[in-house]
Amino acid sequence: MVTRQFEGKQQASYYQKFRIDPSQEIIDLIFSYVDERFSKPYGFAVDVGCGTGQNTRILSQYINKVLGTDISEAQIEEAKKATGSPNVTYSVCPAEEVPVGDASVDLLTASISAHWFTIEPFLKEVDRILKPGGCLAIFAYSPSIEVHYKDCSEQMTQVFAEMIDILVPYEHEKARHLWNGYKEMYESIPYTDKRRIENIVTKIRMPLSRLLGFIQTFPMFPIFLET
Ligand SMILES: C[S@@+](CC[C@H](N)C(=O)[O-])C[C@H]1O[C@@H](n2cnc3c(N)ncnc32)[C@H](O)[C@@H]1O
Repeated sequence: MVTRQFEGKQQASYYQKFRIDPSQEIIDLIFSYVDERFSKPYGFAVDVGCGTGQNTRILSQYINKVLGTDISEAQIEEAKKATGSPNVTYSVCPAEEVPVGDASVDLLTASISAHWFTIEPFLKEVDRILKPGGCLAIFAYSPSIEVHYKDCSEQMTQVFAEMIDILVPYEHEKARHLWNGYKEMYESIPYTDKRRIENIVTKIRMPLSRLLGFIQTFPMFPIFLET
């Protein structure tokens, strides 16, 4: 069943303003796989559950043509406002039904979004649209986050972890996939050539005001406040 937790315009504008980009380490890792399979320039990437386009815009620096898709109209509206890349387009659609041709996609990414999808139809759709040898990259940077700030990084990381502990009871049950490192999802991917990498820590460096904004983008945050 489709889960809709990202429909609000206010939430989408927070996303655009405060959401973080995937780390360069993750991007380099993805392109090391793509490099092994295709020669440059790479053709076409789709970023599903793209939200306001943080990962989509990064992909556009590496790939000729990028499509960002999301089920939330509000998120796509914000993504369109932010894009400065002529090779990026966006579409409102579920990750389980992407409006592109069979075997047309070199790289398909889901940046901290796949836990919201209905996995079986999503993986079927992936199989339909990926080129032979194409690359599927499902990743999340949460919960392995360190907060770096001047000389108090250790304390900030600790406080951030304590705050997450407070918010966890308000999470949607699908967020369990994040906490188990997408383990079940990985197991259901039907390809034999696959790898699961767990030891990447995302280091965020930002002023406190921005960190507070980032926290407000967590889907469990408004539920916590309301409760
Ligand atoms: C946590 S946000 C991640 C956004 C962005 N990829 C990023 O890196 O910040 C999850 C996104 O997945 C989208 N989403 C949830 N279920 C979806 C589905 N079935 N199909 C497409 N997008 C979906 C939400 O609307 C939301 O924008």
